[in-house]
Amino acid sequence: MKKSILLMACCLGLFVEGALAQIAPKEEFVSALMERMTLEEKIGQLAQCSYRGNFTGPGGANYSKEDYVREGKIGSMLNVVGVKEIRRFQELALQSRLGIPLIFGLDVIHGYHTGFPIPLAEAASFDLGMIEEAAVCNARESAADGLNWVFAPMADISWDARWGRVMEGAGEDPYYGALVAAARIRGLQGESLADTATVMACLKHFAGYGAPIAGKEYNSVDMSLGQFANFYMPPYKAAVQAGVATVMSAFNDFNNIPCTANDFLLNRLLREQWGFQGFVVSDYNSVEELVNHRYAADKKDAAAKALQAGLDVEMVSTCYLTYLKELIEEGRVKEDVLDKAVRRILEKKYELGLFEDPFRYCNPGRAARVLNAPDIRDASLRMAERSIVLLENKAGVLPLSSKIKSVALIGGLNRSPHDMAGAWAPTTDRSKIITPYDALTRRGLTVNYAEGYNLKTNALDGLEAAMEAARKSDVVIVAIGERASQSGEKAAKVDINLPAGQQQLIAELKKTGKPVIALLMCGRPLIFNDVRRQADAILCTWWLGSEAGNAICNVLWGDYNPSGKLPMTFPAHVGQVPIYYQYKSTGRPATLRQAYVSSYIDSPNEPAYPFGYGLSYTTFEYSGLKVEQGRKAGEHAVVSVDVRNAGKVAGEEVVQLYVQDKVASITRPVKELKGFRKLYLKPGESQTVTFSLTDECLGFYDNNMHYVVEPGDFILMAGKSSRQEDLLQTVFTLE
Ligand code: GLC
Repeated sequence: MKKSILLMACCLGLFVEGALAQIAPKEEFVSALMERMTLEEKIGQLAQCSYRGNFTGPGGANYSKEDYVREGKIGSMLNVVGVKEIRRFQELALQSRLGIPLIFGLDVIHGYHTGFPIPLAEAASFDLGMIEEAAVCNARESAADGLNWVFAPMADISWDARWGRVMEGAGEDPYYGALVAAARIRGLQGESLADTATVMACLKHFAGYGAPIAGKEYNSVDMSLGQFANFYMPPYKAAVQAGVATVMSAFNDFNNIPCTANDFLLNRLLREQWGFQGFVVSDYNSVEELVNHRYAADKKDAAAKALQAGLDVEMVSTCYLTYLKELIEEGRVKEDVLDKAVRRILEKKYELGLFEDPFRYCNPGRAARVLNAPDIRDASLRMAERSIVLLENKAGVLPLSSKIKSVALIGGLNRSPHDMAGAWAPTTDRSKIITPYDALTRRGLTVNYAEGYNLKTNALDGLEAAMEAARKSDVVIVAIGERASQSGEKAAKVDINLPAGQQQLIAELKKTGKPVIALLMCGRPLIFNDVRRQADAILCTWWLGSEAGNAICNVLWGDYNPSGKLPMTFPAHVGQVPIYYQYKSTGRPATLRQAYVSSYIDSPNEPAYPFGYGLSYTTFEYSGLKVEQGRKAGEHAVVSVDVRNAGKVAGEEVVQLYVQDKVASITRPVKELKGFRKLYLKPGESQTVTFSLTDECLGFYDNNMHYVVEPGDFILMAGKSSRQEDLLQTVFTLE
């Protein structure tokens, strides 16, 4: 290793008596290195290969990764897991002529070794500090095991639960999604990429991937620039403002141009308007797939179009490796376009400190110390507790009494560590996952377990045993929902109803007269109208990761009072999808009392559960909403509302502020979230919550994507969910 680094140092005139000089400043170092690079070596920096056996997509040429790395034809790798393998490939990279080190990336979407709740669950916490802390833990474990790059956060807004990847995001709201994306990036990247407890983050998928037509995976996305700017763009922009190191282009087309070769997105918007300084990586094989889009005639055409549109690193496919030399030699692609891409990549390697020490992330002792560390487990538990959403609690059946001695635990999901991990958890250590079954047995309860329904077919194969378990227990706890593999990538569904067998099981168990508590385990909003009527209580527990069982038990017995709120609307019928709370009035709003209104003849407009909804074991009362002229620069007004804990137990409430622009130069939503505060109140305690009303709360992007704030009246609403009856309101006039 020393040889190639010293060789490079000598080439760069950095070598002084017997020791490697302090490396030159970034600009100087990278320029000097690029001076020495051949055309092939430059092209090699743009190539990224996946490591065998850990594929996360189709295709990929069949060549020796070891040989290509040793020959300097690869600049980064994905799906290489563990310090040992990462060190092996890094050593091969240093044998190349210039010994340029590799970057190693992986999909660490919600935990590396210790599983954290799926991102949609984390978003339900409305606890940005906790979300950032979770990302810090994910970075620590990833970096300790050799990685310096994770393909997160996914910041795609989505209004469509049919799309399986809603589990990876922060739900339907652009304002909140922007805050979550920035929090995750802060957690992953920390203050400096040179810190070996941090990793490069990757904003994905740029852009608009969360709005595939009909919710069908990889389908076309068709929206106006105004729709994009107001509802999908904010999280991407916030991620760049938070300093995200890399961006991943999306599979879909955007404004009829595939994102992977979309000059407007990658050059005009991302770089020229937002000032993004990092590099753009394609999604898996998506450069070659420009041919499938019928946007490129062949792989050579794909290489030219992608590079010129600002796509720097080609993940897995080999269009750049195969054709860029030819394209540059024949003058179709200018070498300075290649140089810009190479520079962006080398600058990140420099910032990671890899030129000074290519093995600085490869410390096996650190991996042993950090992976599954107690403080990381504790963070996973706290994140999981805060992610749970209490949907129903009839007659206050929850929290369960400490006098409960026996539990009928029904449903195979309650004992499935694999499912507890959720989708996109390739490296989570399943052997260390606590399931509800594990946690209940450790509480010293008599656990009468029965599968109830076949996890594969959902047939009620085990009804009798389940009924028997229920009859001899104090309470029935049933896991319902979908398998973890039924959400995530390539998991779009036309039917998001809970399987009939599961709904029937709940109805049968109710006949025993025992309290029936349903645990909804899912990666997306599901439809379960019968269960809503039948179950005594429903907790949405998503997929909570390594501490799932402990978190669920802590909530069931009130050790933690549930505080989660839905980050995404739960439909009452799949025909309502896409459904979201920021809908437009239309010319015939349903609020008009007339026959001709925007509605269905076979379903109400209302969802099963709205955005921002979630119950607590206590109740909160809102009063005194008022708005006063602002006193600070940029502050038009201050909105305040009083919140009181009117119940008998302490709890947390997510106080939400919504704004409606009453009349505007474009049609605007009936309401938009523009502020929230999660506060903890003891029984009887009150707090006045204030929000500063700024341009960011009142403005919008016009159809030319310019941000405008227009004078006029605004309706301000505050309360515990986006549902109108949960909101106090008042009016503010901007002069
Ligand atoms: C996948 C996903 C992307 C992931 C990449 C690498 O297809 O779309 O989110 O980061 O490939 O695994």
